[in-house]
Amino acid sequence: MTARPRRPGGRPGAGAPPGGTRAELGSGGPPAIVPEIAEAALPDDERVWVPQSPDVWFRPLLLNTVSGGWCNLLRVRRAGVLSRHRHPMVVTGYVIRGRWRYLEHDWVAETGSFVYEPPGEIHTLAVPDDCPEMITFFNISGAMIYVDEHGSTTGYEDVWTKIDMCRRHYAECGLGERYVDRYVR
Ligand SMILES: [Fe+2]
Repeated sequence: MTARPRRPGGRPGAGAPPGGTRAELGSGGPPAIVPEIAEAALPDDERVWVPQSPDVWFRPLLLNTVSGGWCNLLRVRRAGVLSRHRHPMVVTGYVIRGRWRYLEHDWVAETGSFVYEPPGEIHTLAVPDDCPEMITFFNISGAMIYVDEHGSTTGYEDVWTKIDMCRRHYAECGLGERYVDRYVR
């Protein structure tokens, strides 16, 4: 298998790459390749954050309808809790701001921490009382399955429910329901 050559200077906003324009150098892939995404992860516009539950928001970055999964920033402010859930597939995360923990574990994810959540893991995310806000990048495969204290399913989220949540919020806040399309692949 041959590795695809790296696209020189292809960063949006970078202007013409050294040695020629982007068109002259080629796109680095077949004509039908879907567009890349490159933008500030932390948005200037507060409306980009989608309310999920009290004191919990997510900011979509990639909504992957092909493999089924999504990348987002999760923001939880004091007293916010992400309900007990199970992951059928792998999740990885990187803490950008603040700290948080899972009620089921004794470790704390600090700013700069990398987190791996194995398939089958069940947990409930909460921020410590002394932390006003945490923001974490999560790469979530498959779905989040919400469960009760007995492990029975109470609900789920997947890329399609996330897209629906974004559409509703962006329509209500004035960005327009199609705002989410820029993150859908
Ligand atoms: Fe999780």
